[in-house]
Amino acid sequence: MAKKIVITGGAGFIGSHVVRQFVINYPDIKIINVDNLTYAGNLENLKDIEEEPNYQFIKADITDSKHILEIFEEFQPDGVIHLAAESHVDRSITNPLDFVMTNVVGTVNLLNAAKHIWKDNFEGKRFHHVSTDEVFGALGDKGFFTEETSYDPHSPYSASKASSDHFVRAYADTYGLPIIVTNCSNNYGPNHFPEKLIPLCIHNIINNRPLPIYGDGKYTRDWLFVIDHAIAIDLVFHEGRTGESYNVGGFNEWKNIDLVKELCKQMDEKLGRETGTSEQLITFVKDRPGHDLRYAIDATKINKELGWKPSVKFEQGLSKTIDWFLNNETWLNNVTSGDYQNYYQKQYK
Ligand code: NAD
Ligand code: DAU
Repeated sequence: MAKKIVITGGAGFIGSHVVRQFVINYPDIKIINVDNLTYAGNLENLKDIEEEPNYQFIKADITDSKHILEIFEEFQPDGVIHLAAESHVDRSITNPLDFVMTNVVGTVNLLNAAKHIWKDNFEGKRFHHVSTDEVFGALGDKGFFTEETSYDPHSPYSASKASSDHFVRAYADTYGLPIIVTNCSNNYGPNHFPEKLIPLCIHNIINNRPLPIYGDGKYTRDWLFVIDHAIAIDLVFHEGRTGESYNVGGFNEWKNIDLVKELCKQMDEKLGRETGTSEQLITFVKDRPGHDLRYAIDATKINKELGWKPSVKFEQGLSKTIDWFLNNETWLNNVTSGDYQNYYQKQYK
């Protein structure tokens, strides 16, 4: 079992839940959270665990190869769980190069640092790359993404993640690096940055602002509660087979319009508004260029091999998520002030 793990992107949405999962459940493992705190990174996400003796935060940019190498040389991690990334598709359409830098160059820097300190002694070492189902492209009305599905990315974001997945596998094939990859569907839950559909709509419903639905709203995503993803990463990191990839998903498909209507219904109840009030905020807006019609994960492999399955039902997870946002108004106000306002104006003008 690993004794020191570098988790990258641990101040972000999913990363903070992964850090908590490891810090709490493995007091004997030292967790080093490497994150450069972009607009999406927030140490408030980790307030409850920041004093734990097995936790340390280091502010570092994964595109800075020298700094990353220094960190690896100093801490000598035997495990890496790599989540740091530019993660938002709409931002990748505006600034593709940022995505190449962090998602591709940053990943290669981490692979080089791991290869450098592990030399040829890979016993007990593991590089876990956290990726997305978007690398597989778009499905029609039927079918699922399996681990055998060919890569067919369409957005600059998914192209950068696909490239990073290829680099990770290339380091296994070329240098024997002990890697493992997970490709997950859409996460939702506490700490989700409000540029993404669910937290954006929660924020806008609270403030009686329009709920922007791209195109006809029939685009379909498979949603998974973020803590179930963190549990899957824990299982795969510890028990998955080296060199393999595992798809992680919720078996929980929703058309965007139906999901937003469910969200409106739950929020009307919680806010004591008349049923139907929030739905009136739904506004169809210009479509996302290159918008993938449907994602759906077949998570049979991780279920059969490792016994993982989603534990949180969507309606309950959504309810917990709304409650978290309603109870964490300061968090929401902090992340939606400043730069967020400029982003929002440009994106939804
Ligand atoms: P996020 O945008 O919420 O967080 C990303 C984190 O990475 C932030 O803390 C940010 O500060 C950090 N970061 C960004 N650039 C960095 C750099 N150059 N150096 C160091 N740190 C940097 O992202 P998320 O939604 O939590 O996603 C985490 C990972 O999971 C990503 O790799 C993403 O591709 C993958 N993923 C996300 C989803 C999803 O639904 N959100 C689903 C599947 C896979
Ligand atoms: O599938 C996994 C991916 O899920 C992750 O790899 C990405 O990091 C993550 O951002 C997410 O990507 P999506 O593009 O699917 O998530 P987003 O919340 O941006 O959009 C979900 C759907 O809602 C998508 O079909 C676009 C649509 N949408 C989104 C926004 C922000 C709207 O209709 N209106 C909006 O304002």
